[in-house]
Amino acid sequence: MKTRLLIWALIGAGLILGYANLFYAAGGGNPLKVPQEYKTIQAAIDASHSGDNIILVASGTYKENIKLKEGVILQGAGAAVTTIDGDGEGNVVEGATGSVIEGFTITNSGKIGRSGDIMDVGISAKYSPMTIANCRIVGNNAGISTYFSPSTIVNNIIAGNKAFGINILYSDSQVKNNLIYDNGSYGIYNSYSGPEIVNNTITENLEGIYSFVSRVVVKNNIIARNKNAGIHWIEAPDNQGGVEPVLSYNLVWDNKRDYVNVSPGNGDISEDPRFLSMGKLEARLQESSPAIDKGDEDGNYNDPDGSRADMGAYGGPLAQKTLLASPEEVSYASLEILYKAVKDRGGYLAQSWGVRAKSGKVLFAGKCGPCHGPQGKGDGPYSLSEGIRPRDLSMGALLSIRTDEFLFGIIKNGGASVGFSEVMPPFGVSMSDEEIKNVVQYVRSEICNCQYIKDSGDIELKE
Ligand code: HEC
Repeated sequence: MKTRLLIWALIGAGLILGYANLFYAAGGGNPLKVPQEYKTIQAAIDASHSGDNIILVASGTYKENIKLKEGVILQGAGAAVTTIDGDGEGNVVEGATGSVIEGFTITNSGKIGRSGDIMDVGISAKYSPMTIANCRIVGNNAGISTYFSPSTIVNNIIAGNKAFGINILYSDSQVKNNLIYDNGSYGIYNSYSGPEIVNNTITENLEGIYSFVSRVVVKNNIIARNKNAGIHWIEAPDNQGGVEPVLSYNLVWDNKRDYVNVSPGNGDISEDPRFLSMGKLEARLQESSPAIDKGDEDGNYNDPDGSRADMGAYGGPLAQKTLLASPEEVSYASLEILYKAVKDRGGYLAQSWGVRAKSGKVLFAGKCGPCHGPQGKGDGPYSLSEGIRPRDLSMGALLSIRTDEFLFGIIKNGGASVGFSEVMPPFGVSMSDEEIKNVVQYVRSEICNCQYIKDSGDIELKE
């Protein structure tokens, strides 16, 4: 009796797996199911294989803080019914390279930090370019942070977070078709990044978009009724390196100040967008809205029906009928495309920063100064917030026992690569080798004014 049951169970499982294989052939793996096969989302992630698995999570509330795995797709039953609740502790979700999270509400992170890369957020992508789609990221300390992680963030609702909606640091992220409202600081904050911010609706945050030394593309967005600036471009002498924001076809209206340190772009307008009802979940447009058919004329930006793009989160090629798509509306095929887009972007960041290598001086001011200070003395504005103190690079005694290869290596691959703190980031993703060499030379000639002499052991032996 027992044996027969077991056999039936095996046959049954075989059939199901066979069917699943057919269905998910494109994904290359079987779906793992939560909670049917794994009680917790993390248990399923731990059991999955990098780059090979889709994890399907049934509706319900999961009190977990999860860490994704490289190349794994985590698919919820839909943001309206499937919630990951961080229970007030830490980051709710930590990303992994090439991973995808889709179809969840993500809420209740810890409460630490208001800026920088060390703070509790709904989703943290740190050195891990990933895709975040069709999620609601609400009621966290801050929404999403991408740190050295050019990520794809599409069709999300990012609202009611205590600090910012999306924080983009050192990441050429794609931010498209999101509804970003009612966040306590910036809707989107960029620094040292080249993101594309296209077809979002950004309302009622403290500020809409704030940008610092970023080659940001801001197109086809509706940016309205933010409490301070709509688009705020900070002027930082010596740091800008000629980087200009590219604004076009945005509706920027009724912010306390619509533009700060930046002028309206080509096709920008300032009129009441005529939402069905203002802000919140009903940011779709009335038929009489001035934002309809006023996006970029370029056919690549057209709406799904082929007409000229509408501005805002419900326009452009990725527009969904509703941002709260039910699971049936989200096809696995579109996930595959997103996933591939992220994977293909390895090495993309460095190339996108322009053809000519920047000088060591400009790079040092822009990329090292925030931590090591303008003269390299370890006293930059981030030095206190980061926990571990950046080294004083002006100390000849220290730098003269470091070879150029060592300096090149730690700058390219980060502190962790030589057993130092990971707070010293890897710059291989945002600088070319030539640029890193320029920085090493600049440090030698202007910061420590020293060359490598010998390693200290030799010096001591002679004495
Ligand atoms: C986010 C902050 C941060 C940024 C940005 C940063 N560093 Fe660092 N750096 C650190 C910290 C912290 C350490 C010390 C690590 C340790 O002690 O474990 C460090 C260490 C170093 C060291 C090692 C010194 C030694 O002891 O040999 C070098 C060299 C260095 N940084 C160069 C740079 C350069 C050049 C840049 C810009 C391209 C840069 N850093 C950008 C935080 C930063």
